[in-house]
Amino acid sequence: MRKPLIAGNWKMYKTPRESLAFLEAFLPMVEGHERDEIVLFPTMSSLGYVLDRIQGTNVRAGAQTMHWMNEGPYTGQTSPTMLASIRCTHVMLGHSERRIYAHETDDMVNWKLKAAFGHDLTPIVCVGETLDKRQTGLTEAVLRWQIACALNGVEREVASSLIIAYEPVWAIGTGSTATPSQVQEAHRIIRREVAERIGQELADSTRIIYGGSVKPENAGTIMSQPDIDGALVGGGSLDPETFSRIIKYPKA
Ligand code: 13P
Repeated sequence: MRKPLIAGNWKMYKTPRESLAFLEAFLPMVEGHERDEIVLFPTMSSLGYVLDRIQGTNVRAGAQTMHWMNEGPYTGQTSPTMLASIRCTHVMLGHSERRIYAHETDDMVNWKLKAAFGHDLTPIVCVGETLDKRQTGLTEAVLRWQIACALNGVEREVASSLIIAYEPVWAIGTGSTATPSQVQEAHRIIRREVAERIGQELADSTRIIYGGSVKPENAGTIMSQPDIDGALVGGGSLDPETFSRIIKYPKA
């Protein structure tokens, strides 16, 4: 029922030229792959080029962040209207690197989520605890809080495209992946909170994907957990061959 989604977050890597070179190699590697949805998140400077190049293929692309307003005096920002105007289909919201380095708050994630729904952009809302919070037994509290804030005032009628990415901050770019049981438990907590906020039916159809040091070697194990509906891949998505091996993870 929940089609798996494998997304590549390119963070601040790749010029437009490098992005197009990636696609030249990558698109033939995943041509005809329909088991999983494939979405790339290039930098804002590459996004338009990538969107043009993937037209008619089985690959989609989105923005790594956006503002919640349609336009205004907000230097450096890109609006949902602008993304929609270049046929962008997805947007990532509240990535921990945005929360840490750009001081994005839970309220902002909530405003952005409502704006995404308002513009038919499929949102991937990122949540996850720091190592300190995990070690002090606060993982559940953090996840529930982040989900509750993100969904505050969101009408269930508009929220059917919601995707959530569980990315424990301590597993991002560190090589230490959360264990399948840790991820399974976190996803269960997230799904229960989504059910409380916007209803069980929507929670059951909401995809919850995992991010944090996903590699070709561990993708199969991660994807075989019943509550893991996909992966959000950072470093492992930068090389076409490596990323295509993740996408073609062995099915358990
Ligand atoms: P890594 O796969 O490099 O750990 O990054 C995960 C991530 O932050 C994806 O959004």
